[in-house]
Amino acid sequence: MQLPPGFSNPNDPWVCKLKRSIYGLKQASRQWFSKLSSSLLHFGFAKSDPNLFIRQTSNSFMSYPLITDCLKSGLYKWAGDAQSFNKEGPYIELVTSPNNPDGYVRQSVVNKSGGILVHDLAYYWPQYSPIAAAADHDIMLFTVSKSTGHAGMRIGWALVKDEEVAKKMVKYVELNTIGVSKDSQLRAAKVLQVVTDGCKYPTSKEGSLFDFAAHLMEERWKLLRAAVRQSGLFTLPEFPHGSCRFLNISFAPRPAFAWLKCEAPIDDCEAFLRSNNILTRSGIHFGVGPQYVRISMLDRDENYDVFVERLSTIHLRQSMQVDETAE
Ligand SMILES: Cc1ncc(COP(=O)(O)O)c(C=O)c1O
Repeated sequence: MQLPPGFSNPNDPWVCKLKRSIYGLKQASRQWFSKLSSSLLHFGFAKSDPNLFIRQTSNSFMSYPLITDCLKSGLYKWAGDAQSFNKEGPYIELVTSPNNPDGYVRQSVVNKSGGILVHDLAYYWPQYSPIAAAADHDIMLFTVSKSTGHAGMRIGWALVKDEEVAKKMVKYVELNTIGVSKDSQLRAAKVLQVVTDGCKYPTSKEGSLFDFAAHLMEERWKLLRAAVRQSGLFTLPEFPHGSCRFLNISFAPRPAFAWLKCEAPIDDCEAFLRSNNILTRSGIHFGVGPQYVRISMLDRDENYDVFVERLSTIHLRQSMQVDETAE
């Protein structure tokens, strides 16, 4: 039996057994559309009506261009959004996944050889996103602030496969910071130890820190979606469900930031929300228009509750203002 051209290497003798076919069945077209929609949503498309998918690209974590430009390195400079990168020669691609600001899971998009990929996995934790598989990239960055919520130490870590690269990174951090505070390192190590022990030997019926945090994020996203529905003025991205191999459940992502869009006629979402006593960061800082804002979902309970309450009652305040101007 011969495979069609392009499907395998002629020296490679594998033949695949087809386990299931969706063609020719009564439900084939429905299944096909369901697979297509979940894949498009997975790649960051938004569904604007049942058959229309739109991709609103939002660039990377805003600190990367700022830091790169500030360093003014002779070795590299910021080259813009990876989606539109088409230069020849070596390059570094930063893959922030789940992405800040929009929360979508990302893959590398620059399809060339000679690149170094740095995976920023600050948000690849089960409270935000289903953990599809153990992360296994050459260079992976993490931070305590987003994994356990201990933001005060500002400590992160990297998992790096190549020992020489790892040594260079350690040297760079040492020179750049004159040594990271031992106090912070010890506290971060202790926090991570307690969290990992809590996963291996849970002492409470609530489970590990990740069970607790996943539940909290789920509740917060529920409240936010209800407030957005009530206001009728905004939209939020939709995320497809995925199975989480860490929590052993299937759920839709609940990102650390809400990527909120103000619908027409509001064209400056940040200004509109500020006039309603809600402080956010405009989409213009992330390479998209001012209709978008990024909202932190990780604030303290008291602040989060006030935020949701203000958001859900905006339409009431707006209509009161219209009434007052009409009088
Ligand atoms: C994508 C991403 N990577 C890295 C960081 C750095 O995190 P920290 O400075 O809290 O360690 C942040 C912080 O917001 C982030 O959003």
